[in-house]
Amino acid sequence: MPDNIVWHDHKITRAERTVNKHQKPCLLWFTGLSGSGKSTIANALDLALHNRGYHTFLLDGDNVRHGLCKDLGFTDDDRVENIRRIGEVSKLFTDAGLIVLSAFISPFNSDRLLVRNLLPAGEFIEVFMDTPLEACESRDPKGLYQKAREGTITNFTGIDSPYETPERPELRLDTAVMSVDQCVGQLMAYLLERGLITQ
Ligand code: ADX
Repeated sequence: MPDNIVWHDHKITRAERTVNKHQKPCLLWFTGLSGSGKSTIANALDLALHNRGYHTFLLDGDNVRHGLCKDLGFTDDDRVENIRRIGEVSKLFTDAGLIVLSAFISPFNSDRLLVRNLLPAGEFIEVFMDTPLEACESRDPKGLYQKAREGTITNFTGIDSPYETPERPELRLDTAVMSVDQCVGQLMAYLLERGLITQ
């Protein structure tokens, strides 16, 4: 806790903000290797929720690294700071009453746990994109795996930087064998079952 800084309670509470939006906030945290389908599935779910009238926001690694996190690279320390910032921003957006979708490699269990613990129980939904490395590498949508194999980029997740597999994710999706529609269907079913959405 920083010195000389005192928390200021706001007149409108988190709960009151959600009432006006007629929805329950939560954070869907998509984790997995580059090319595993995080952004694709998060975007498709975002669209499905938006079309049903829900207030959502999507945070995505490549985009956030153009602004808020443009000072960060891919060393372990920079990734830890990247996820810390995104976790805090995601929490603020849930405080605003939004359903937040965050798509980041987030390779370390401890960082994901840190974000989980920022939120009330049941509001953090870890979605592990369990697409095998071989499938991600054969897709190589940005040509980055090839560069990593050639050694022109270093600290690349899955090649020369670790990815710690989630121990107990709320959902596990493998886009090598599941279609986008199947993945979105499974996510929607989870949200309905937990009462986080109603339609
Ligand atoms: S994280 O590890 O800090 O969570 P983040 O999701 O923000 O990563 O960014 C990952 C994206 O950055 C990848 O989708 C990829 O396009 C790009 N990228 C560039 N260099 C690397 C690298 N060394 N390792 C992983 N991704 C990289």
